[in-house]
Amino acid sequence: MLTLSNLYKTFNPGTINEKTVLNGLNLELNPSDFVTIIGGNGAGKSTMLNMIAGVHIPDEGSITLDGVDITKLKEYKRAKYLGRVFQDPMLGTAADMEIEENLAMAYRRGKTRGLGWGITKAEKEQYVELLKSLDLGLETRLTSKVGLLSGGQRQALTLLMATLKNPKLLLLDEHTAALDPKTARKVLELTELIIAKNSLTALMVTHNMKDAIQFGNRLIMMHEGKIIYDVAGEEKKNLKVSDLLARFESASGGEFANDRMMLA
Ligand SMILES: Nc1ncnc2c1ncn2[C@@H]1O[C@H](COP(=O)(O)OP(=O)(O)O)[C@@H](O)[C@H]1O
Ligand SMILES: [Mg+2]
Repeated sequence: MLTLSNLYKTFNPGTINEKTVLNGLNLELNPSDFVTIIGGNGAGKSTMLNMIAGVHIPDEGSITLDGVDITKLKEYKRAKYLGRVFQDPMLGTAADMEIEENLAMAYRRGKTRGLGWGITKAEKEQYVELLKSLDLGLETRLTSKVGLLSGGQRQALTLLMATLKNPKLLLLDEHTAALDPKTARKVLELTELIIAKNSLTALMVTHNMKDAIQFGNRLIMMHEGKIIYDVAGEEKKNLKVSDLLARFESASGGEFANDRMMLA
């Protein structure tokens, strides 16, 4: 349902800061694939997600979503097909607005109406049910300002907002990296639940190899702007962190000292 075909991207070409970040990247996603993505720092993971979202346009290659070529489609035009959650809990929600207002904004995404609407009773009931499913006690705090929530609560809410309109594709870029381990686990479990409940197709970048093995049905490893390992199903489930490290070391030619820390 998503095809990335031979993508290339070089930042600052012709200057001293020239950097080739995507170097002939190919990826084909099947509907309901939940793919975890690992790789060293600077491997091009965020750039790949940003390119799918339309933040960057490739120098070469094409992106097809559900049979439609979106390679050059403007970011705001493809936003309605995509749900996104980033690392920073501050980015996905509006701190000065109430929980229900944030949800209502997400619900009205793609519509040109401003904030002159009222939130209907039926809508409120739907939000309460959704918030209940998070099991974070937010269902009794519909009119609390989001700025009062913890990082984990905000990421959970962002996740709800990103998936409220059933996106064709959910993009998660280290969305639990800024959380403490216990909260990160909780948000990951919620992520898994929401993806399963809505049969979403998802790409999830993580720096945690154990999480990459445990979650999703498929795992890809990136290095220097390419996919160097792509594994799914039983084979993926049976992987160990040591297997991934060995893969990474052989593919990167042994320069693993720094990257091992990034990956671990
Ligand atoms: N807009 C940009 N301009 C210049 N260089 C960039 C830009 N975005 C990313 N880079 C560089 O591209 C490389 C890959 O970045 P990124 O995709 O963020 O890696 P990852 O997410 O795998 O750590 C890094 O060296 C980064 O500094
Ligand atoms: Mg990144």
